[in-house]
Order: sequence, then C-alpha cells, then structure tokens
Amino acid sequence: METNKNNFKPTVLVIFGITGDLSTRYLLPALYHLENYGLLPKNFLVLGVSRKRLNKKEQTRLLTKSIETKVEDVNKDSFKKLCDKFDMLSFDPAHEVDYTHLREYLSKLEEKKSLCFNRLFYLAVPPSIFSSVVDKLGAGNLHKTCEHNMASVRVLIEKPFGFDLESARELISNSRKYFTDEQLYRIDHYLAKETAQNILTLRFSNPLFENVWNNKYISNIQITASESGGVEGREDFYEQTGALRDLVQSHLLQLMSLTTMDRPADQSAHSIQKQRLKILESTIPISRSDIAEQALRAQYDSGSIYGDKVGSYKKDVGRNSTIVETYVALKLNIDLANWRGVPILLRTGKRMMDRYTEIAINFKENAKQKIPGNLLTIRIVPNEGVALKLVVKKPGFSHQTEEVSMDFCYRRSFDDRNPDAYERLILDAIRGDQTLFPTSEEVIASWRVIDSVVKEWSMSDRGLLFYPAGSWGPKSAKQFAEQYCIGWRPYDPAVCKI
Ligand code: BG6
Repeated sequence: METNKNNFKPTVLVIFGITGDLSTRYLLPALYHLENYGLLPKNFLVLGVSRKRLNKKEQTRLLTKSIETKVEDVNKDSFKKLCDKFDMLSFDPAHEVDYTHLREYLSKLEEKKSLCFNRLFYLAVPPSIFSSVVDKLGAGNLHKTCEHNMASVRVLIEKPFGFDLESARELISNSRKYFTDEQLYRIDHYLAKETAQNILTLRFSNPLFENVWNNKYISNIQITASESGGVEGREDFYEQTGALRDLVQSHLLQLMSLTTMDRPADQSAHSIQKQRLKILESTIPISRSDIAEQALRAQYDSGSIYGDKVGSYKKDVGRNSTIVETYVALKLNIDLANWRGVPILLRTGKRMMDRYTEIAINFKENAKQKIPGNLLTIRIVPNEGVALKLVVKKPGFSHQTEEVSMDFCYRRSFDDRNPDAYERLILDAIRGDQTLFPTSEEVIASWRVIDSVVKEWSMSDRGLLFYPAGSWGPKSAKQFAEQYCIGWRPYDPAVCKI
C-alpha cells in the first residue's frame, strides 16, 4: 500500500467500549494496520475508555490478543509504536463526572504537548446508550476543542442508528443539540469494503456497463449477505436488533444504492451522498398490507455447519420465547424511470450453509432466441472480484454453446492486501472525509423503507418461519424469489477462488 507522509492534524481517538467485541475484533487490528502503513498522524493517541481498569501490562495484553488473532505476521516495531500511542481511562458512560475527567485528561494531554488535538469519539457501545453518550459529551463540553473550531471534534457512531424511523429521527435531532452533521460520522462498514467502493468505478468508468445499467436491460438485482456464523457473544445486541435492523436497514440498502444510483456530478462526498439518497428516497416503502408478499422472516433451528453440529437461535440466546428473526428476504422496487419494474431482492441470514456477500445483476434474456440473460456478480466476500457470465461456442465441430465466466479477481490482479473496511473508515474520519458515511437523511430514508415491517415483526410472530442451521434459509424462500424472477442465483464458490 502507498504510504504518505501525511500532515494530518494531531488527533486523539477516544474509543468508548475499548474492551468490547467491536474494538477488539475490528478497531484495534485496523489501527495496527494503519500504524504499519505509516498512515496515522504524527501526533496521535488512542484513548480507550472502559469501566474496566487495566494497568499498562493488561493494556498491552489486550492489544496483543486482539491484534494477534487478526494479523498473521505482526510487525514488532509497528506493534510497539501502537502500544506507545495507547492509553486507557476508567470510565462509566452513565456517570457525568467521568465526562469531566475525560475533558481534564484531554486538556492535560494538550497542555503537555503544547498542541491542540482533533478529537474523535468512537461510540463502540450498545445502540441503546448512543443518545445518552452523545448528550453527555455535549453537556460535558466535549463538543469543543481547545482552539474553538480550529481543531475538529467528530463523533463516530455504529449502526443501527436508531431502532425504527421514529427513534432514528429522535437520535438525529438529539445529536444536533451539540453536534453539526459535519461532525457526525455514522458507520456502515459495508460502504468501506474494497469491492463495495469499486462498484461506482466499475459502473461509471466502463461505458460498456453504464449504458445497459437500467430497466431496459436488467431484469432483476439480488443482494445477498449470507453468514455461516451465529450471534456468538452478541446475544443481547442481537435480541434488540435482529437481521432486519442489523443487516438490511443499513448494509444491504446501502449496497442497493451504490448499485442503482445515478452518476454523481463529481467525486465529492456531497455529490455521492446525494445520489445514494435519491435511491433510498425513491424506494417504495413496504406497506403494512404488502408485508406478507414482499417480506419473509425466519429464525435458525439446530443443524450442522461445515460438518459441526450447532444449536438453535433460541438456545444460543437462552430465550425460548424469542421471535427475533435471523433471516430476512425482501423485495423492493425503485420508483424511478430507469428502475421501474426491476425487482430488487435483498436477503441475509445467520448460520447459513456458507459465508458470502454478493450482488447479482441479472440481465434480460433474449426469450425469442432462447438465449439466457448475462449475469454480473460483484463478490464482496470471500474471494473479492467481479465475474461476468458469457455464452460462448463450445470448441469442436458442433454449434453447441455453454455459459462460461470471465472474471476480475483482486488476488490475481493486485499484490497488496485489501485494507479492512474499518481501516478505511478510521482513516477517513481522521482526515475528515464523509463520503463513505451515510448522512442523517440517508438513515431516515432507509428506515422509512422498512419501518412498517420493523413494527409488524416486533409485535407478533405471525409468519415467522424456521430453517435448519447450515441450510440456505427457510424452504419458502425459493417460492418467494420465484414470484419475481427466475429464482435466487445460487452461490458459486468457484468465483475468484484462486
Ligand atoms: C455487522 C453486523 O454490522 O456486520 C453483524 O452487526 C455482521 O451481525 C457483520 O456479522 C458482518 O460484517 P462482515 O464485515 O464480517 O461481513
């Protein structure tokens, strides 16, 4: 990776929930990689805040454990540099006095260094306390820096941003009490996945695609995020969210926007966000009366994955009465001239047969000549790349044809590793680039699309299906897709398997 001797402002990244799952699985390894690439500001500090008090040795152990589980060959020098930039503060997010301590800590740091730091507050905490933390940051005067507007204060908030349309609106208006939209960085890490970032380049830098990217040539679009993992260690979080809020509201709707948005006027954050928003605002919300037809939910039962027996969701969360969905399939339509009539199918599930995320663009067939439609697959995980199915003549003396795949695979074309989404997001927050972060309008528009489904599903278990862990979801998912198109495109593990 290209490293630049950046001239980023001195920055302190305060991570709330430093000992939690998100920090240890994603944020600390991402910071290690940024350090290793030489991309962190010269004056940089990570301040982990947590109820747990850890001494220096325990802090190093936390970093070691988190980084070693994710990184194969840890560069000792980079690791040490990161440890030197790491500190912790014992902190209870519910206690106002702790925000005063945090402010004092930051002031002391600035006095000691005779520098004014940009302050980034990363809320890696349960969504239920986002609002109260944002409030207390403001009330504790942490929304300002020592230079009063010369340095920046930014707040990074994980998804889900709200629990439904109403709470998202509330959270947005609440956060505006102290922070402007330019200061709020709402995380949707799917937007920062390397292949997702490539969607716009693929579409708009290849005239071949741009001209056929509409309802005249495309018959349907399918976006799948299938996970073999369950809810390990995140039972409480998942019980409050479920697959619809966790994966669909943000990740899948954002992938849909990238896939269908118009060419932005330029590369600025504003122009790109504006086009993403147009799609979300033009997506027809699923009305209450259409839920049965356009939405399907299910929960995993016991089964086996990759040969190992696994228990049911009920057992995993220890609640026999839970009605939380771990699988969702939706059919959406975009009410724009170039997309009218193209069904967009979204689906996600936990404990599925295999792990993959991809976008399948199904082009129209030539029914008269009995020629199948081309399929363009944008594979986001695993084996990132893009594959196009073509019909070719089979070698030999007959006119027999066959479908073959023509592909671009990152691993074949590029030597560098793809940076993890969180590396990109942390770096963008440091440099103040909001392109890969959904705006508050996008958040509202995406909740609007699914709001009646969110409400209906939280009220009763009507229509809740079950599927064995290790399958491709409930049996009726097949008929569900067949109402709208030829059916789900099956997962092809051979794509970009090198
Ligand atoms: C998170 C969800 O946002 O994305 C998780 O909360 C999910 O439930 C995860 O497992 C998937 O992300 P990735 O990057 O591992 O595909």
